[in-house]
Amino acid sequence: MSPPRDDGHVHLADYVPPAWRILHADLAFDLDPDATEVRARLVLEPDPDQPGQPLVLDGEELTLLSVAIDGRGLDAGRYTYDGRALRIEGLPGACELETRVRIHPAGNTRLEGLYTSGRLLLTQCEAEGFRRITFFADRPDVMPRWRITLRAARERYPVLLANGNPVARRELDDGRHESVWENPHPTPCYLFAIAAGELDRVTHSVRTAEGRQVELNVWADPADVARCEYALGAVERSLRWDERRFGRGYDLDVFNVVAAQDFTMGAMENKGLNIFNARYILADEATATDADFLAIESVVAHEYLHNWSGNRVTLRDWFQLSLKEGLTVFRDSEFSADLHSRAIKRIEAVRVLRGRQFAEDAGALAHPVRPDRYREISNFYTLTIYEKGAEVIRVLHTLLGEDVFRAGMDRYFADNDGRAATLEDFLAAHAAASGRDLSQFARWFSQAGTPELTITEDFNAATGDYTVTVDQHVPPTPGQPDKQPLVLPLRFALYDAAGAAITAAPETDAAINGAMVELVAARHALRWRGLRAKPLAAFNQGFAAPVKLRFAQSPAELARSVRVERDPVHRWDGLQRLATRAILSRDADAADALEAALADLLTDAAADPAFVAECLVLPDFDTLADAVDAVDPGALLDARDALLDRLARVLAAPLQARYDAFAEAAGQGLDGAAMAARALRNACLAWLARVDASGRLAQRQFDTARSMTERGAALRCLLHFGAPGAPAALAAFREQFAADPLVTDKWIGFVVTRPDIAACDDVEALLASSWWKPANPNRVRAVLGNFQRGNPRAFHRADGAGFRLVAERLPALDATNPQVAARLLGGFEGWRRLAGPLRAQARAILDGLDGRLVSPDCRDLLARLRDS
Ligand code: PHE
Ligand code: ZN
Repeated sequence: MSPPRDDGHVHLADYVPPAWRILHADLAFDLDPDATEVRARLVLEPDPDQPGQPLVLDGEELTLLSVAIDGRGLDAGRYTYDGRALRIEGLPGACELETRVRIHPAGNTRLEGLYTSGRLLLTQCEAEGFRRITFFADRPDVMPRWRITLRAARERYPVLLANGNPVARRELDDGRHESVWENPHPTPCYLFAIAAGELDRVTHSVRTAEGRQVELNVWADPADVARCEYALGAVERSLRWDERRFGRGYDLDVFNVVAAQDFTMGAMENKGLNIFNARYILADEATATDADFLAIESVVAHEYLHNWSGNRVTLRDWFQLSLKEGLTVFRDSEFSADLHSRAIKRIEAVRVLRGRQFAEDAGALAHPVRPDRYREISNFYTLTIYEKGAEVIRVLHTLLGEDVFRAGMDRYFADNDGRAATLEDFLAAHAAASGRDLSQFARWFSQAGTPELTITEDFNAATGDYTVTVDQHVPPTPGQPDKQPLVLPLRFALYDAAGAAITAAPETDAAINGAMVELVAARHALRWRGLRAKPLAAFNQGFAAPVKLRFAQSPAELARSVRVERDPVHRWDGLQRLATRAILSRDADAADALEAALADLLTDAAADPAFVAECLVLPDFDTLADAVDAVDPGALLDARDALLDRLARVLAAPLQARYDAFAEAAGQGLDGAAMAARALRNACLAWLARVDASGRLAQRQFDTARSMTERGAALRCLLHFGAPGAPAALAAFREQFAADPLVTDKWIGFVVTRPDIAACDDVEALLASSWWKPANPNRVRAVLGNFQRGNPRAFHRADGAGFRLVAERLPALDATNPQVAARLLGGFEGWRRLAGPLRAQARAILDGLDGRLVSPDCRDLLARLRDS
């Protein structure tokens, strides 16, 4: 890493290896919420290629108590500390540095470094939080082995956890005790963690494929430990899956997971000690929905899988962030696909990609999967790094096939184990395993923007020639006006008039690999000869190419494609495209075709209920907005509602029939069939509730609910469609779960997403109530995040009241927790694409924030939002 240039940015091109290595770190903590003392003994060695450099260690908000080299205290004149870095000149060579500092966990509202959550003491270090704990080279390419000693009052902190394996415990005087941990794997400091407090656990011991006995523990507040069983099971499933699918074993004697109510992100993969936002751990059927269970399993897998993709092989610098995040999202999504329905998992990923990542790629904050500069790395934990990064890995997997990809992964892990790697290292391993030249593929990492594929077809009835032209275009993004073509795997199929697949291979200038063409140029042509009639073409099955496809098929062709295609993702997509046409172009034929196709699906007793449920979820606001030039949110949502109202009215009978048919199956616990039954019933309910002013059905489901999946969905319908029973149901729900912050977040989410501009008043009321807890990131997201992202109608209110609700909270939130504030500020990313008056409102709001946001996080984002 390197210091920022004069432009305030750290640049990828400036990378230099650390001048000093840290071979071993021995840390001792005297834990106390008001004053924790940290003693660090670091074994240092200069890089032989960079001799004579001063030792410069990061350190922020540390009270320096003493500095010693090789056991001799240094006078104040021998070092400097300016509040950001400790600097020592003239060190002879390899030596041992000992520092003592004092920190103040209870005053740490940023939740970065060592902080308190309730009565727990916890850490969060990624990306640059370790420097708030002690002096250190806070960069991922410095990887010591660790010994960590924790001391604290036994009564208040009976459990003391750190990275690695526990090696010793003893009682001390004055009611204190001590616990010692060793992490033998070279590990960067962003993966450092400790957790201390009154925790209880669920535990399970497993024997790994390599024969290691491992204790798996999930820790939580004793009152919550009964809700940790599902997460514990998910840890074991993840461990087994990584053994089977990637041949990767677990490498310590314990794997600890801790649930915390105050956590800025989702969860963190610290070596041997994952720390989680409680919402991704705590679950039982009475308090968590099926979606919560699946999210828990997937986040648990994500963090577990980081143990190889991120921890054993770590990052050279933060520009490589997607090397661990994109790769690990790819791995966790394969885990979920292998364990559950691959098609449903893919449909959900495509929804997120289209609704959120494409919008990011088209907005003010667009950036490549590997950015080439940053001002604040915390602002790069984005959908592009995670989801697009995973798509790029998926593209590689599709191009190489499972076996060659696996060989490339084996090679990557073998060549880079214990090292800090780059995306080049990753590609080199795959190039070697596959024998392919991946230099063009590497453009996926450096170019921002969503590729667009335009398909033009021509059928010559005289000759029977059917010619398809595929044009590829990547639009300009901030700082990147010109783009080069990418490598894209495009699956295709042709069907004849009877719906049978035409299997003849096309003539083409591109490489063909089975039913997939590899696009490498800005234009390719495919030609089939001697067809009897114009075929029905399908492109991009499985959404293997993460692109925007422009292919002007008629509603009749789309409807046929939904019938004849075998790929569920493609069938679902045909319905999405019909709905998009019906909403954005007010295309009556598209609406009719959609209605007919849905009627077929709803009466097809053989259809997978989970798939039908997905088909009942029409493109959301963000996805629709991404398809138009100037976004008028009110008009767009009116058109969407009109289509939904019509479909719900016309299809009421089959919707009700499906709803009734699955009543019993929906009560059968957590297996896939029961979840699918609940998904379909809730999807039917959401439509039926639109056209039933009495709210009778939702009320009955609320009153007789067997699970949170049923109860929550019913409450949401009552609230969103203004049913007479809504206030009483809300009060009962609120009362029943008042002591549970996670379930409280749920009703808040329903309230603030009521699709009515008057929801602004409800948000206002919440902000003035005792439910508003601005120091708790989950609560901020529940109130303001849900409002901003989940209530496009009220957030985009024409008078700017929705924008103001969020913007006016930002200065105070920024002073408390800059990362939480920055996320909300990022919610303005699409402002330039809004239609006239609303764009002016947004601009005024952003201009008004200038000078009122102090963190580097928010200042960076605000500048990018306004400059774009
Ligand atoms: N690395 C975490 C993950 O698994 C995310 C995270 C980033 C958590 C930064 C905390 C801080 O994706
Ligand atoms: Zn991750």
